[in-house]
Amino acid sequence: MSFINGPVFNRVIVPLSLVSSVCGGILLLREKKGGKKCPNTNRVDGKVVVITGANSGIGKETAKEVAKRGATVILGCRHMGKCEDAAVEIRRLSENKHVVCRFLNLADLNSVKEFAETIQKELPHIDVLVNNAGVMKPRPPKTTFKTDDGFERQFGVNHLGHFLLTNLLLEKLTNGEEPGRVINITSDAYKQGSIDLENIDKSDVEGEERLNQLYYQSKLANVLFTDSLNRRSKSEYNEKLVSNCIHPGIVDTNISQYSTVPFYVAPMYSLFKPFKLLTAMKTPLQGAQTSIHLATDPSLTHRSGWYYSDCESIAPTCDLCDGDLADQLWKKCEEWTDLAERRNKIKPKNQNNIATSDVKKISQKQTSS
Ligand SMILES: NC(=O)c1ccc[n+]([C@@H]2O[C@H](COP(=O)([O-])OP(=O)(O)OC[C@H]3O[C@@H](n4cnc5c(N)ncnc54)[C@H](OP(=O)(O)O)[C@@H]3O)[C@@H](O)[C@H]2O)c1
Ligand SMILES: *[C@@H]1O[C@H](CO)[C@@H](O)[C@H](O)[C@H]1NC(C)=O
Repeated sequence: MSFINGPVFNRVIVPLSLVSSVCGGILLLREKKGGKKCPNTNRVDGKVVVITGANSGIGKETAKEVAKRGATVILGCRHMGKCEDAAVEIRRLSENKHVVCRFLNLADLNSVKEFAETIQKELPHIDVLVNNAGVMKPRPPKTTFKTDDGFERQFGVNHLGHFLLTNLLLEKLTNGEEPGRVINITSDAYKQGSIDLENIDKSDVEGEERLNQLYYQSKLANVLFTDSLNRRSKSEYNEKLVSNCIHPGIVDTNISQYSTVPFYVAPMYSLFKPFKLLTAMKTPLQGAQTSIHLATDPSLTHRSGWYYSDCESIAPTCDLCDGDLADQLWKKCEEWTDLAERRNKIKPKNQNNIATSDVKKISQKQTSS
């Protein structure tokens, strides 16, 4: 009797090879669905990268990678415990001690101003700002529908808070030799979005659909913002700023953490979990590739006004959105954030350069105070 027909072959080898083919297939599928890996491996020693919502998901993976490549990284987060946990992990994995946490609540415009003021004092220059933090379909009891300032939360956090933050940091983004890079994390869901500046709450839409529409709106606002900022960079900042936005893909993160599913849906979620492997979902590291690409690639120094996905520029933002609407939105946001007044209140004095000083000491001082 030959080995091929033997019992060992039938009972062990055949099932084993079946299992490994299936596993290999899943891994291949995942690799393929995961999109492109960031093609460059350049170091960014000494560059300063500010990332919002960096304690989790795509932001954390982006922070990890730029820290590994030598950047000074500021994690802007609103839960300092979670932020410090992330910072400890990033410092350990990257062997880079220049990773610090600073308090930032994008749902509170005064907090945004304070964060901007703090880091302006600490940093002579900012090379990259990653507007990454975001919420999707937030609702009670996990959180409130509105921000502290009374704006609808998705618009407030995903767009308005970042609008103010970017504007307050412009001086530090434009004072270097190379243009500062602003990277906005949007989503291809922006395509389904619409903005009526007179009805930013979408009070005419009901229930679940309203929350969907509000997410799409906030992501469209990100694209419009990128486009406005790009045009303003040309007209007002001598192209000392580049502004691009990205769609990270569908990524397995905590993005829905403030959304509540009905109790009868929850068990289905856990049943579905093992099959996540088979779906198109990217891992956070895969989802972070385009952010990393835009933050680090030397060939992109002057690249501005583009919409990116999988490390490739898909289209200029001016082809994707209405420039007039972008201007109107910008003007409204200046009003809504009291931009002029908040900007005047910031006094950038007392430089305390955390890019070169002992970062650990500063973060200890902060947690003990
Ligand atoms: N996941 C996807 O499939 C997907 C698809 C397209 C676009 N995106 C975009 O990718 C970005 C990153 O999301 P993610 O998927 O990585 O989700 P995530 O893991 O939930 O990360 C979002 C981060 O935003 C922070 N955040 C929420 N509200 C905040 C506030 N008021 N102030 C400051 N920070 C706040 C969160 O902090 P806490 O943990 O402290 O709340 C968290 O660190 C978002 O802009 C999202 O719209 C994601
Ligand atoms: C989601 O949040 C939990 C709790 O804060 C954290 O432990 C986990 O790492 C987060 N997931 C991702 C993908 O970042």
